[in-house]
Amino acid sequence: MTLPTIRRFAGPAALAVGTADLVVERLRAAIAERGHASIALAGGTTPQPFHRELTTRALDWSRVHVYFGDDRCVPPDHPASNYRAARETLLAHVPLLAENIHRIEGELPVAEAAARYADVVRPALPLDVCILGMGDDGHTASLFPATPPAPPDALVIATTSPVPPHERVTFTFGAIRASREVILQVTGGSKAARLAQVYAELAANHPVLPTAQVGPAIWMVDDAAAAQLPA
Ligand code: 6PG
Repeated sequence: MTLPTIRRFAGPAALAVGTADLVVERLRAAIAERGHASIALAGGTTPQPFHRELTTRALDWSRVHVYFGDDRCVPPDHPASNYRAARETLLAHVPLLAENIHRIEGELPVAEAAARYADVVRPALPLDVCILGMGDDGHTASLFPATPPAPPDALVIATTSPVPPHERVTFTFGAIRASREVILQVTGGSKAARLAQVYAELAANHPVLPTAQVGPAIWMVDDAAAAQLPA
């Protein structure tokens, strides 16, 4: 089992800068090599300082395609929409081409939204960067501890969240692992024990929690979240 590369930062602000440095480097390299770049964004609150930091960076945004590792099954202007949060913190502030923003159609019935997004994602793989967060229960994207295993070749599935909005559309582990770089952002002491549990599962080559099943990843963590990791 591959242990993650761990980069520690004093706090969320420094972590946002460090993640932006890494992501801009990866996207510039992709544009130089293939003429375009792709990134899947995470939801929740952790990535928002990183999104705002990205808006300050010089990048040929017209060559960048944006995807979402998951979203809630709500309309795009709903307060719980990951797309809406990304639009407010990043997408509306950089010169992306509208046709290169590939949102999950959360306003549709969940099975239809998942099937349609799988058709969007399939030709785009491998993505250059996949950003993930981790919930207090060890979930990542919208892959929860209770989520049943996905069909072997599935890239996008419908899942049920234990907290509302319950209906979700999410990348599978297969789609996540198809990314050239997986970057996990975790901040805050409330996640320290769970992150240590994920690390212990990886060290024991016995990944159980969803965050332990994403494959090789770079962990961008602040000191509070890293407090229970091995020194
Ligand atoms: C979501 C996210 C989810 C998130 C974690 C962490 O749709 O909620 O994709 O996986 O990354 O729940 O959320 P916070 O960053 O808000 O702690």
